[in-house]
Amino acid sequence: MSDTVIRVENLGKKYIIGHQKQQPYKTLRSAIAEGVYSLKGKLFKPFGKSIANPHQEEFWALKDVSFEIKRGDRVGIIGRNGAGKSTLLKILSRITEPTTGQIYINGRVASLLEVGTGFHGELTGRENIFLNGAILGMNKVEIRKNFDEIVAFAEVEKFLDTPVKFYSSGMYVRLAFAVAAHLEPEILIVDEVLAVGDAQFQKKCLGKMGDVAREGRTVLFVSHNMTTVESLCSRGIVLESGNLYKDSTASEAVKVYLEKSYELGQQLALIHRKDRTGNGRVRAASFRILNELKLEEKTLQSGKDYYFEIGYVNYIRTKISDVVVSLDFFDEKGNRVLLLRTNFTNHNLEINAEQGHILCGVKNLPLASGLYRFSIYITHGDKETFDWIEDAASAIVDGGDFFGTGSPGIPTHCKILVKADWYAT
Ligand SMILES: Nc1ncnc2c1ncn2[C@@H]1O[C@H](COP(=O)(O)OP(=O)(O)OP(=O)(O)O)[C@@H](O)[C@H]1O
Ligand SMILES: [Mg+2]
Repeated sequence: MSDTVIRVENLGKKYIIGHQKQQPYKTLRSAIAEGVYSLKGKLFKPFGKSIANPHQEEFWALKDVSFEIKRGDRVGIIGRNGAGKSTLLKILSRITEPTTGQIYINGRVASLLEVGTGFHGELTGRENIFLNGAILGMNKVEIRKNFDEIVAFAEVEKFLDTPVKFYSSGMYVRLAFAVAAHLEPEILIVDEVLAVGDAQFQKKCLGKMGDVAREGRTVLFVSHNMTTVESLCSRGIVLESGNLYKDSTASEAVKVYLEKSYELGQQLALIHRKDRTGNGRVRAASFRILNELKLEEKTLQSGKDYYFEIGYVNYIRTKISDVVVSLDFFDEKGNRVLLLRTNFTNHNLEINAEQGHILCGVKNLPLASGLYRFSIYITHGDKETFDWIEDAASAIVDGGDFFGTGSPGIPTHCKILVKADWYAT
């Protein structure tokens, strides 16, 4: 008897893209990010990409991917935006058909993909629990056995008899996760939905996924957070532009992925990067870090003053005001450690009609030694997302004297440096 629960052979998925009227495909992360900015995010008309490219084009989101997953494997699937992670999970969940290749699945799959898949808006929370249970092949008795636990986990007691279309996105995800994890699937597939829950709920979900795995069930988990992948997963699969780039232990996969994205960040001018979301009406074109004399620096030092410079191109060709620019700093494990954003300090910008530079000055750089990556996020107030590039660039902080005492802090323990005053009374 084999303990293989999933076998994927030469899997490929082709999309036809470039229909003029079609709303460009949004990845889950961009949908969530836009949701934050505009709850009625679907209102704004996409611009740019779809108009620039009226022709149909074939696009392979997955190419010739093969692997095997054994019972009890906890597999982290990692890769840059657009690498094909969600596409792979959708095929494994049978939401979409592969174009080439085969999959064999041995066991009951519960998947939690994008917010909303699997739930019926007109039905109440209670009805959706029973519906999903039935889809998973469970009878009423089995579902009832888990019902109270699902409701308690999701914290939706009061809204059980409300149609889920009235749920907030947080409630929705909580219930969806609770159902997927509690209905005793043999294989649990989760696509970084946890990003929308609050920190406490995320912790609860990760704990639950750990339990599911300990019970010998199989978990496939897509995440951009390398710390989570390393702690939760035993195995790691790295996808790169639709290809399987690495299949090994979780920690080896994380290492390879981080090295690779570091190289990429160094190589490509931002304007040529394809792995970005947003409507493209304004785009980040370049990124540099300058010292206090406005000279470029490649290696930074804790405690010094710097300018982060983002070159931009404005395709609207008129001045735009109320532009929000955000620079997110991630440590080498993918944890967001610092967030600089114009609207925190009422510094939303007016940008030129053609192109120019945005400068963000930081005094006394509060980062301990280590490698950092940056994401750049540019929006028009809360109206539309112009551009979002993850891993836009990276920089190394090496040495420096933030505290003025020669102490580097403990960079392996904590990345943020703050001078504190201490008193004993
Ligand atoms: N229905 C679709 N139609 C056209 N293109 C699609 C469709 N679904 C996905 N794609 C494209 O396939 C590629 C892979 O998308 P996928 O959602 O699998 O990426 P991902 O690795 O999950 O990215 P992210 O980390 O941003 O969630 C992307 O370039 C995406 O634009
Ligand atoms: Mg995805």
